[in-house]
Amino acid sequence: MQRYELFIDGESRKAVGDEWFPTDNPYLGTPWAEIAKGTGRDVDDAVRAAHRALHTGPWAELTASARGALLHRLGDTIAGHTRELAELEVRDNGKLFTEMHGQVAYVPQWFHYYGGLADKIEGTVPPLDKKGYFAYTKKEPVGVVAVITPWNSPLLLLAWKIAPALAAGCTVVVKPSEFTSASTLELARLLHEEGLPPGVFNVVTGFGRDVGAALVEHPLVRKVSFTGSDATGRRINESAARDFKHVSLELGGKSPNIVFADADLEAAVNGAVSGIFAATGQTCIAGSRLLVQQDVHDKVVGRLVELAGTARMGDPMDENTQVGPITTPAQYAKVLDYIGIAQQEGARLALGGRAADRGGWFVEPTVFTGVRNSMRIAQEEVFGPVLAVIPFKDEDEAVEIANDSRYGLGAGVWTSDIGRAFRMADRIRSGTVWVNTYRTVSYLAPFGGFKDSGLGRENGIAAITAYLDDKSVWINTGAPTGNPFVLR
Ligand code: NAI
Ligand code: MG
Repeated sequence: MQRYELFIDGESRKAVGDEWFPTDNPYLGTPWAEIAKGTGRDVDDAVRAAHRALHTGPWAELTASARGALLHRLGDTIAGHTRELAELEVRDNGKLFTEMHGQVAYVPQWFHYYGGLADKIEGTVPPLDKKGYFAYTKKEPVGVVAVITPWNSPLLLLAWKIAPALAAGCTVVVKPSEFTSASTLELARLLHEEGLPPGVFNVVTGFGRDVGAALVEHPLVRKVSFTGSDATGRRINESAARDFKHVSLELGGKSPNIVFADADLEAAVNGAVSGIFAATGQTCIAGSRLLVQQDVHDKVVGRLVELAGTARMGDPMDENTQVGPITTPAQYAKVLDYIGIAQQEGARLALGGRAADRGGWFVEPTVFTGVRNSMRIAQEEVFGPVLAVIPFKDEDEAVEIANDSRYGLGAGVWTSDIGRAFRMADRIRSGTVWVNTYRTVSYLAPFGGFKDSGLGRENGIAAITAYLDDKSVWINTGAPTGNPFVLR
């Protein structure tokens, strides 16, 4: 079986203990490769390499413009390898090739965009209120960044973090998900071949409780950038707080997709399907609560069930497949558990509700109606193809239900009333609100969550400041140095 080693200081190498763990192909339900099982000692080696590269050697010596030019080249390199990288992702997480190739083909934009920003990181000269002094500010890279990523969109979510981190001049140690390590290792190798200096981008594969935790705790790490579950995000936040590390957390969601009676209902149903059944529901922005205005409830549900009921399940590499398998056995079990929980809570099964009988970890697209927002199926993240339909009366009730969640990542609003669109955008407490569309993202638009959905924002110009520290420098140009006991 193929083996993937760690990538530290510009080189592939075995983990210190020479241990390995299998990674599965979710479509077949069988292992396809072995991944090096890193330990705390590997983490220490990687962080030290990243710390050295930060302060000495070719990376430290690059001008901001040269760093930007390098990021542009790295983006071009990725653009030349999208097919093989996407195939690797599909083999490892079972999501559709069309989806993963779309994502990987978009990744170069992050390198080009943040590469362009590298030499626009400017300080300021504050107009001081004190005579005899001059002050200027500068922005410096925060230092070594620990990047911890999930399995659902490995390279895209990695790019959201490493492109701004590298543009800022930081170095990174990445811990990819134990379920999908291969594409990140392959990317590291490709980027080094293109001239990324050793130590700048290191990858330690392994499990969260040892490699992930050791990385977050390492004293030379100054920032942790994480995407994954809120349970792990909370643990990371608590651990990072002990050493006052910076953190960015992109966590879960239970996003409401809200259909008003005045909407283009065909478009809304399409949006509902794309929100929850595309990517087999394995996305943080899944529109997992469908709020439908009473008057059109039955019509919308009828059409939705018709459309989702004909979705083609199958080989994720086949461009005609619409719904792929669940990525991990644990996730598969969790999705089926939630289907049982929803039934016990009294939700009505309108579609699906079963594992699909076809090998691999497939679950049928599932729709529950008659859901109350207080039910667990409406409050907890399932991360699978399970939709909870909740009826509402009017705008106020829609807002109340939408915001009655500990999460606040995304929300969809379907309406033809422009005033209502703006009112809803104002009133919904979430990091993104989509009107008459769903699941659109860009490197240009800030992305992140309110409440338990996370801390900080990725994408857009401001995201680079998450990898920078401000420094103020004061120069005495002739002020008297008098009484030492008085603040000047
Ligand atoms: P997870 O949040 O535990 O894993 C994400 C990453 O964190 C992985 O690389 C993992 O190895 C690492 N990690 C785990 N424990 C850690 C620790 N103590 N310290 C540092 N790093 C640690 O998610 P998992 O177990 O893969 O999936 C569980 C649930 O999380 C899913 O069912 C889903 O609900 C949610 N999830 C949400 C995602 C999102 O994009 N919002 C992505 C993936 C999972
Ligand atoms: Mg896998």
